[in-house]
Parts: sequence; C-alpha cells; structure tokens
Amino acid sequence: MNTKRQNLGMAFFHSCFLLPILLLLISSMAFSLNPRKIENFGKNWKFNLGDIPNGQESGLNDSQWRSLDLPHDWSIEGKFSKDCPATPGGGALPGGIGWYRKTFSMPNSEKGRLAFIDFDGVYRNSEVWINGHYLGKRPYGYSSFRYELTPFLKYGKEKNTLVVKVDNSQQPNSRWYSGSGIYRNVWLVTTENIFVDHWGTFVTTPQVTDQSATVSVQTKVRNASPKNRTVTLRTSILDRTGKHIAEFESKATASKGSVSNISQDLTVKNPILWSIENPYLYKVLTTIECNGKQYDNVETPFGIRTFAFDSAKGFSLNGNQLKINGVCNHHDLGCLGAAINYRALQRQLEILKKMGVNGIRTSHNPPAPELLELCDRMGFIVMDEAFDMWKKGKTQYDYSLNWDEWHQRDIEDMVLRDRNHPSVFIWSIGNEVTEQWDKKDSSGTVIARELAHTVRTMDPTRPITANCNDVDPLNPVIRSDALDLIGYSYSWGIYKDFPSTYSGKKFIGSETTSALATRGSYDMPSDSIRRWPVRWDSILTTGNSDLSCSSYDNCSVPWGSTHEETWKLIKKYPFLSGMYIWTGFDYLGEPTPYPWPARSSYFGIVDLAGFPKDVYYLYQSEWTHKPVLHVFPYWNWKHGDTVDIWSYTNCEEVELFLNGVSMGVQKKTDDKLHLMWRLPYTPGTLKAIGRTKGKEILTQEIKTAGKPAKIVLEADRSIITADGKDLSFITVKILDAQGTLVPHADNLIHFNVSGCGKIVGVDNGLQTSMESFKASERKAFHGLCLAVIQSNEKAGGITLKATSDNLEESAIVIHSK
Ligand code: GAL
Repeated sequence: MNTKRQNLGMAFFHSCFLLPILLLLISSMAFSLNPRKIENFGKNWKFNLGDIPNGQESGLNDSQWRSLDLPHDWSIEGKFSKDCPATPGGGALPGGIGWYRKTFSMPNSEKGRLAFIDFDGVYRNSEVWINGHYLGKRPYGYSSFRYELTPFLKYGKEKNTLVVKVDNSQQPNSRWYSGSGIYRNVWLVTTENIFVDHWGTFVTTPQVTDQSATVSVQTKVRNASPKNRTVTLRTSILDRTGKHIAEFESKATASKGSVSNISQDLTVKNPILWSIENPYLYKVLTTIECNGKQYDNVETPFGIRTFAFDSAKGFSLNGNQLKINGVCNHHDLGCLGAAINYRALQRQLEILKKMGVNGIRTSHNPPAPELLELCDRMGFIVMDEAFDMWKKGKTQYDYSLNWDEWHQRDIEDMVLRDRNHPSVFIWSIGNEVTEQWDKKDSSGTVIARELAHTVRTMDPTRPITANCNDVDPLNPVIRSDALDLIGYSYSWGIYKDFPSTYSGKKFIGSETTSALATRGSYDMPSDSIRRWPVRWDSILTTGNSDLSCSSYDNCSVPWGSTHEETWKLIKKYPFLSGMYIWTGFDYLGEPTPYPWPARSSYFGIVDLAGFPKDVYYLYQSEWTHKPVLHVFPYWNWKHGDTVDIWSYTNCEEVELFLNGVSMGVQKKTDDKLHLMWRLPYTPGTLKAIGRTKGKEILTQEIKTAGKPAKIVLEADRSIITADGKDLSFITVKILDAQGTLVPHADNLIHFNVSGCGKIVGVDNGLQTSMESFKASERKAFHGLCLAVIQSNEKAGGITLKATSDNLEESAIVIHSK
C-alpha cells in the first residue's frame, strides 16, 4: 500500500494550502461520478393491518390500502384493552400483522450503480421483498439492517415494489410497550460500485493530549466492480465550522468483489475535547477516488475525549472526575408511540438536560440512531444496551426464541453501527438476564464471555457491563470476568460494601431507584415510605384505590428505593461512578405496582406527557448550578387537614409564610435533600422565600385555587419547520378566574386545528387513562393536558383552538416556516 501523508495544521493550512486544495476539490468534483445519494424513503407507503396472502406479489392491488408516511406505529392507534395479548405490561395495545408496500421508480441514470435499502428498525419479525424477490428477515425489532436491491431493480418508466411484512402477532414478547411496524426511518442509498461499505468507517482517538490528538480511521472499501482497482482513499478531518484541519491519502489495490480495510492515522492539533458542557464534534470526510474520478464520499461525526473508570475515584471525563447522573429510558415517545420523531426525542432530552441529567441508558435495546446523534450533540454519556434477555426468556414469545440464530449478528450490528458516537461510553450486553440466577449452570458465563469477546473485537475502546440484579460475585455473569464494570441493578443497601466485595473492580449503578409517582398526587404523612407492591400476589390490594402513587418521593418498589435514598449514597461515595435511574420518562407498559386498568409506568421523573413530577426539581437542585426553589403540593385541602409542605432548593434556607405569617425557616444541608413544614390547612397563600447568604434568591407562591374558569395554552416552540415532521408541544392549563392552576381540574378539552398542521397526539400523563392518544380531545389531569401539533409541508400559520364546557376558550398560533 502506497501512502502519502498530508497533515495540515490550521494556520498553515490557511496561509499555504487553501487555494490549491479548493482547486483540487473543484477539479475532482468535475470528474466526480455520482457519489452516494441518501434519500429518506418514508413517504407514500401503503399499509394494511392484518395478514394478506401473498402480500409480497408485485401485481397485488393495494389501491384500497391506507396511505401513510413512515415512521409508523400501528399499535398506538389502537384501543387499550386488558385482553390485548401484549398484556398491560406491554401497554395493553394491539399487536398483529401488518403489510407495508411502496411503489417507486428508479431513473435510468441509476443504472450501473448500486442500490441499498436501510431500515433503522422494524418491530418485529420483518420480512422484505423487492419486486417479488425475497430479501430476508430480521426478528429483532431493535436492530438496524440493510439489503441490497441492485440485481432486482427496474429502471426508467417501470415501477418497483418494495414490500415489508411485519409480524408482531405473537405476544407477549416484551416487558414494556414495543410498538408495531416500521417505526424507525428507512433510507434508500445508492452508490457507485466502489464505495465505503455499510458501517465501514471506524474512528478512534488512541492518543489525546492538550496539544494533539491522534485520530485513527479504519475504512472498509468495497470493490463491487468487475475489475481489480487501484483506489485512492482520502480522509480529511473537518472541525465544527467545516474547516479542513487534517488530511491523509492512501492508495490501495482493491480486488474485485472484496473489501479492503485501510487504516490511517491523522493528527488534530490543539484538539477541542468533547464534554458534557461543550460536546464538540469533528467530522471525518472519506472520499474514494479511482482513475481520477470520485466514487464515494461519506461523513462520520466523531468527538475527541478521554475517559476512565477507576475502582476508587469513579468516572472521569477528560481527566476531570464526573458523576454519571443518568437515567434509563425506553424508546416510546408517549402519545406518539414508538414511531421515531426527531423533535419529540430532542424535547425529551432537552427536558432531561435542564434537570441536570448527563447520562442515558438505552434500556434495554439498541436505540434509534437519532438518539445517539442527539446525545453526541447535546452531551450525554450513553450506556448502549443490546438485550433484555439472552437464551432464557422473560416473556412467552420474546427474543430468546431467536437467540441461537441471531444474537451474534445483532450484537455485532449494534457495535458496528454505534461505535463512532462520542456519546457512547459503555456497552451493556444485557439487562437482568435470567442466566444470572442459576449458579450451577454456566451458560451465563459462556454467553457473557462470548458477547464481550465480540464487542471487544469490534470496539476495544469502551468498557463492557451488564445490568445485574444478582450482585453476588458467584453470579455466573459476574464471575465470567467478562465485565469491565460491575453493573449494579438496585442493591443500594450494599453499595458501601462494593470495595470489599469487588476489591479493585469498577462500579456502575446501571439501574437504580424505581421510585413511583403520579404527577400531582400526594399521600401523607409524607415521611412514611410505601414499598409497593408489598408482594406480587398482593398486587390487587396494593396501593391507592385510584391507582395513584404519591409524588412526595415516598413510594418505591420493594427492590428499589426512593430517589433520595439512592442519590444520597451515590453522592457520598467516590467509587460509585454514577447511576442510571429507572426512569427519566414514564413509558407505556409496566404499570407496577398496579394491575389493569393501569397501562403505563409510574417510574418516570417526568410523566408520559412530558410534565415534570416534583422530584425533577430535587435533581435539578442537586445537579445544576441554576438557582432552584420548588415548593409543593398545591394549596386546596379540607379545613383542618394536616398538610406536609416540601421544598427542593439549592438556596441555603427557605422561609415559608402562610397568609403572611412565617411558618419558620428551614436550612438546606448536604444530606437534607428536601425541606419540610407540617401545617394545619387554612385556605389562602403559601409563600416561600429562598435565601443564600441572607439574600433573597427566589420566591414562589401557591394559592388556593377557585373553580376552573379558563384555558391557557403554552407552546414549547411557536415557530416550527414546514417539513411535515416538526412538532410543537402545547401545554393546556386549566386556571381559575385569578389565574391559579386548578389542581384537581379534569375538564374535557376539545381541540380544533386549522391552517398548515394537524394534531398527532394528545395526553395528560395519567397512567390509567383509557382515552385514545390519537384524538382531538383530552381530559385534563391535575390541571394539565397536552396537544402535539405537527406541521405539514406548507409554510403558514397553524391555529390550535381549545374549548371546554363552562371554560373561557383559548387559541394559539404556531408559525410553520
Ligand atoms: C428492573 C428491570 C426494568 C424494570 C424495573 C422496574 O428490574 O430491569 O426493566 O422492569 O425493574 O423496577
């Protein structure tokens, strides 16, 4: 292999090379073939819910099928029922079989090129055909995969038919809501016949100092042409502004029908490190040339950062100790279901970032690629997880049935796809797998070693963990020695023993807490902790008759803890590198501790609609430097009731006044994470003043609310993009005549949208609501509900009007541009 190195410092680059390189670029453009094209292939599909004999046949008449755009989740459109085979644990929504068909033409100009179809994820058991040719199947609903279409395509006026059968009929197959259908994006990729192979770039940064970073790039060049070729592989590094700052050119012989793996090392001078506060991204730009023509170009974002886990000091990023203050999340997007939407995901992460969260665990499966792209850009420490089960299953029809045939492929694909993301710091090979429990059976050891070996072969740069709820060293998964980090699931009572139990080993709280709360519900006395369900066979008698859980952070599952219990420990011991709390957001399914008609989880710090529960502010007061004062609950009780008033704050002290009379000052200390006053209720106004060093920093007033009188609408964004995808999340508040939120208001709100958009979801965060998410009305819950508006492709205004019997109506205009 012939190599020529051109590694350019920025200043030098400016002064000497800008012009020649521009000229070179322009001249190579002139000879460029038609490099890679990537087209979102989500528009204009036909869909049939239910099985169709020979649905794959090209000639089939699908004109009566429903027209829709992807991503699509049919389950979320269904009705909640305890009889759905998914069970309430799976969200109590229907599964079934669905067929998708798309007819398209390929221009003659594409002849001689290659065409691929990339699926980011289909839940589940997808089978794909092009023009009647079977391309393959993919059981796991969370893997991304590609098929080549080239040999079967028709060009010019003739039409092609791409068909996907999705089979999510065998249920239960998941312990949470999965969704059904082509719920992630689909891409049509066309290339020349010499190109960068699928997931064929691997960027690492083996050496990083303040002065310089070595960037190693391995590129797989596939030569699908009929001849051996000499190719030039040019790898450039671009900084955030798009400036070329380093370049490396290699010549290699690419044999026909084979893949050449080419390694190149580049240097970035004075690198700007990727961090939580400044998630700085560089880009590798790969171009392949052959006979003076450009065949391919691919961009790969990456970051430069160092990190370490230490048995005594915990986690550090770029040399600075940092607690991983993370959350676990499932993939659903509340009322939008599993259908991926970039803005919905971004909103979730924005809400979490504002709370101070710096880590995300993709429980318990590979996420949508957009999640990692967002985490790269926003600065989160991701634990990327492969599986919820191995060979021993957890639900009747789950992935364990596909384990033998598919696990190797699925784990490889996860790592290949995700290993360039700077946000990915930890691979998790499994969540609480059943193999842990049988100490006599070594299958847990064998599988753990096999998976870890595969992961290390594909990516030696990141530690491997598994989330273990048996934290005994004799757990076959732990004793395999395959784990770089011992992943603790709960077991907070023995965190302190970690250094003696696992001397010299490294800890991660891969799953913690599992506290339970319903937004706006409060059970007193607030200082008595409920552990629900008491026993699984008592589930029907556990808890409150309205199936609520208290928001005082005084309710948790018995295997978990309240938020404070776990956080106090994580905060205290430096060897506890951090935690991923179960969960950031409520999710559909797993309504522990309740049976039907509960159908979604109580674990979230934020409810399903995206409204923070009170404990959100506990973390915000601990994890951010922003001044925080959050006082709760509401101030509508029965005369004479004894009411506990809590405050989360990072002010030094808070003084509480009831109707102008001081109820005393409470001081914040390191392990007093909330302040509390116990008062007999009289209506009026509570006022809290937060002070630091004697200075008033924040105040908050809570007033006794009168009757519901009016609706107020607040949009998270009033300008959105007219791309048919972007969203505005509109919070509906029910206020009394004086403008106070009415804490028990549950008025039914009717929505009407006009202009360039539509409603794509409604919600109120109530775990037992049987109302449809796809509707133009919603009851408020504790004074709030949500309408999600989506743009269409026309620019203009979108007006949402909200009305309700006996309430003053309200309207809001969103501008779509
Ligand atoms: C864990 C499990 C999670 C979730 C959680 C609820 O054991 O890993 O998926 O079920 O319990 O507390």
